[in-house]
Amino acid sequence: MSDFFNTSIGYMKKNILITGGAGFIGSHVVRLFVQKYPEYGIYNLDALTYAGNLENLKDIDQSPNYHFLKINILDADALDAAFDAHGITDVVHLAAESHVDRSIVSPLDFVYTNVIGTVNLLNTARKKWAADYSKHRFYHISTDEVYGSLGAEGFFLETTAYDPNSPYSASKAASDHFVRAYRETYHMQTVVSNCSNNYGPYHFPEKLIPLFINNIIEEKPLPVYGDGLYTRDWLFVKDHALAIDLIFHQGVDGETYNIGGFNEWKNIDLVKLLCAQMDEKLGRAKGYSEKLITYVKDRPGHDRRYAIDATKINKELGWKPTVTFEQGLSETIDWYLSNKEWLQNVTSGAYQNYYNGMYQNR
Ligand code: NAD
Ligand code: TYD
Repeated sequence: MSDFFNTSIGYMKKNILITGGAGFIGSHVVRLFVQKYPEYGIYNLDALTYAGNLENLKDIDQSPNYHFLKINILDADALDAAFDAHGITDVVHLAAESHVDRSIVSPLDFVYTNVIGTVNLLNTARKKWAADYSKHRFYHISTDEVYGSLGAEGFFLETTAYDPNSPYSASKAASDHFVRAYRETYHMQTVVSNCSNNYGPYHFPEKLIPLFINNIIEEKPLPVYGDGLYTRDWLFVKDHALAIDLIFHQGVDGETYNIGGFNEWKNIDLVKLLCAQMDEKLGRAKGYSEKLITYVKDRPGHDRRYAIDATKINKELGWKPTVTFEQGLSETIDWYLSNKEWLQNVTSGAYQNYYNGMYQNR
């Protein structure tokens, strides 16, 4: 039995369940926690869907404080058993279906994992921690997309009303509401953060930046949706992981924190910067990759602009991004260029069917 239960000496070792730890952001969070907190037990719970990849963690998977649990958050019995077997004290919940385009094709997958899966996890935590909720924290990782779309002006604040437009953002909004409800109804200790678009190593190449890096390497068309003037606020994934560490340890119970890069880019400007950096790194002529840009049919319900006001986390917890976008993008491209095998592994097989299905009619 875990020393979690040895409260007679007033000591409770943290055994943290990080869900979705084999995915993009989760793998950075798992790595950070495993390396920074050798005294914690870190339990990476992941169903290993198409987006989950244990290769993302091969540099730390032999660490004595790291453990992997192949569990689907839809399996409530398996969650109960995992909490019992490992004395889980806290949860950092990242597991989700995360791609807007997929949510347009298969909304129910998003309801199952993002809504029902989150409620399953809340139910388990509620049961297992009932003796004293003040000793445990349930940290739910969410997105700025729950706030809907901005016009040319303004920013999302923690107090901005939810106004989701895609099945993805609607499912994340629903899960955020359930976390709030479990706090208000059962007095569980919860904290939520809503972050802007991440980029960096290990990002699955269905999202804009890694997809376009892959297509530039392969000299394939770069499919820009609509007029290309949609705006996103981009944050380097390692800075998101640092914010998650800070909020997990120092965030105030019941609070929400917005996390953003103070870094807005119109898609077309970002794509041109990416092309320029890649041409230089690949020794191609200036302007070569820009010729691959192809305007395609727009995404339905496409949110025009996201922009986070991250003043609260900056002022209250002292967090700010550590790298500029140019630095983060350069590091990201370098990572993809030196990890072609990773890219080849994830773009073989099922990925080709996804890609052909998603882009054939655009
Ligand atoms: P991702 O798609 O790369 O990874 C998701 C992980 O969850 C995968 O490892 C997958 O195997 C796992 N998973 C999916 N369904 C599961 C299930 N039913 N049971 C157990 N595991 C399951 O996602 P990401 O981009 O790393 O996002 C992680 C979290 O951060 C999500 O909750 C997402 O909503 C949120 N978020 C993402 C971004 C972004 O830009 N990517 C921005 C803000 C917030
Ligand atoms: P994406 O990376 O899917 O993130 P999100 O939809 O969660 O913001 O897309 C980022 C932006 O890039 C968004 O405005 C849609 C656009 N986009 C394209 O123009 N072409 C593409 O092939 C993809 C995947 C995205």
